[in-house]
Amino acid sequence: MAAATAHVLPDASEVRDGRLLIGGCDAEALAQEHGTPAYVFAEDDLRARARAFTSALAAHHDGPGEVVFASKALPCTPVLRLFAEEGLGCDAASGGELHLALHAGFPPERIYLHGNAKSQAELAMAVEAGVGTIVLDNAEEAMRLSALLGGRRSQRVLLRVTPGVDADTHEAILTGQAGSKFGLAPDDARALIADPPAGLEIAGLHMHLGSQLFALEPYRRAIRALGSLGEFATYDLGGGLGVPYTADDPHLDVEAWVAGMVEAAHAELSPARPDRELVLEPGRALVANAGVTLYRVESVKAGVAGERLVAVDGGMSDNLRPMLYGASYEAHVATRMGQGGVASTVVGKHCESGDVLVRDAQLPDARPGDVVVTPATGAYGYALANNYNGQPRPPVVFCSGGRSRAVVRRETYEDLHGRDL
Ligand code: LLP
Repeated sequence: MAAATAHVLPDASEVRDGRLLIGGCDAEALAQEHGTPAYVFAEDDLRARARAFTSALAAHHDGPGEVVFASKALPCTPVLRLFAEEGLGCDAASGGELHLALHAGFPPERIYLHGNAKSQAELAMAVEAGVGTIVLDNAEEAMRLSALLGGRRSQRVLLRVTPGVDADTHEAILTGQAGSKFGLAPDDARALIADPPAGLEIAGLHMHLGSQLFALEPYRRAIRALGSLGEFATYDLGGGLGVPYTADDPHLDVEAWVAGMVEAAHAELSPARPDRELVLEPGRALVANAGVTLYRVESVKAGVAGERLVAVDGGMSDNLRPMLYGASYEAHVATRMGQGGVASTVVGKHCESGDVLVRDAQLPDARPGDVVVTPATGAYGYALANNYNGQPRPPVVFCSGGRSRAVVRRETYEDLHGRDL
C-alpha cells in the first residue's frame, strides 16, 4: 500500500505481507466468512473518533458542550448504540431516524429532531418521546408545534438559520447558502425570536453549512451572521467536516477542526456568556474512514477502447455517492495491497452505464475471485443503499482485536418480497 493511502483506511488497520487487516481481521477471510459485498467497520475506530470529538470539545470550550452524531450518515442501530455508549447525542432527521435513535437507547433528552418538512405525526412523536431539542426549520412549523403543545408543557427548540454563506463543496451537499431549502432567513428568525409562539423555549440557534468542508472561514462568517441575531444560551454549529476519500485529500484532523470551530464561536459571539453551550453535529467525520466495503471481482475484461474493466458484485446499490456527487474513491486488491498496477475502472453489476465505483483505480492485475476493497465508505453508503436490480443490501460487520461479528445481517431474496400483501 502506498503510504499516502493509509490515512483513508481505518486507524485500526494494517497491511501485513501485502494483505489488508481491518481491526486485526484479514480482509479476504472476512469476505469468505461474511460474504460480499460487505460493509466492514473497525469498531475501535468508531469509538476513538467519538472520543476525539468529545475530548477536543471539552479541551477547547469551558462551557457546556455536546457532540451530536448526524445519524443520517450511518443509521445503523449497532453503531447508534455504540455512540450512545460513548455519550454522544443524536441528530434524527425524520420519524424513522428518531425511531432508530430511541431503539438504540439514546436518552430522549440527547436527541435533536431535525427536518425541513416535519409532519405533524413526527412532531407529535418527538413531543411524546420527550425529545430534548426540536430544531425548527420554519415559522409555520413553529406554530404547529405550539398548537400541539396546547399550553400543557414547553419544548426546548433551536431555530435553524440560513446564514447565506457559500462554502466550497458539491452543490448537492451545500445547505447554508442563499436559496437553500433549509432553515429560516435571518429576518424570519428575528420575527420568531421577538414573538415566540406559546410553549416554545427558544434556547438558541442552529446552522449547518453543508458537507465535505475543509475550510473554517465559511463557518466563521456564518457564526458571525448568527451572532447578529442576539444572544442565546446554545449554538449548534452543525457538521460538515470533510474526510479523506483518496490519498490526495487532506488528513482528517478532528482536534484542529473542533478547536477552530470553538475559537470562531468565542471570537464571533458575544463574550458576555462564557457559559454558553456549543453543539457540534458531525456525521461523516465520525464514520467514513472507520469503514471499508469489500467486494468480490466477478469479471475482468478489456473495453472497446482497451480500458481494463474490473466488475465487482456490488455497485450503485451499496455506494451511490460516485453517481450522485461524482465522488472519488480508491480501490485495492485486499491480498496484494500497495503493489501498484494497471489503470483499471471498477464497475458495479447494475444495469446502468453510470454504475462506476472507481474510475481511475490502479489495481495489480485483478482476477475473478479477488477481494477488492474501497476505503472510506463508512458514511452515506449504508444510508443510501437500495435494492436496485433485486440486490439484497449488504451486512454490516464489526471487527476488533482480530475478531469479527456481523451486527446487521445481509438481506435475503425473501426480504425482497417480504412486504408484499
Ligand atoms: N447536521 C445537519 C443538520 C445535516 O443536515 C447534516 C448532513 C449533518 C449535520 C452532517 O453532515 P456531515 O458531517 O456528515 O457532513 N448524502 C450526502 C451528504 C448529505 C448530508 C446531509 N446533511 C453525501 O453522501 O455526501
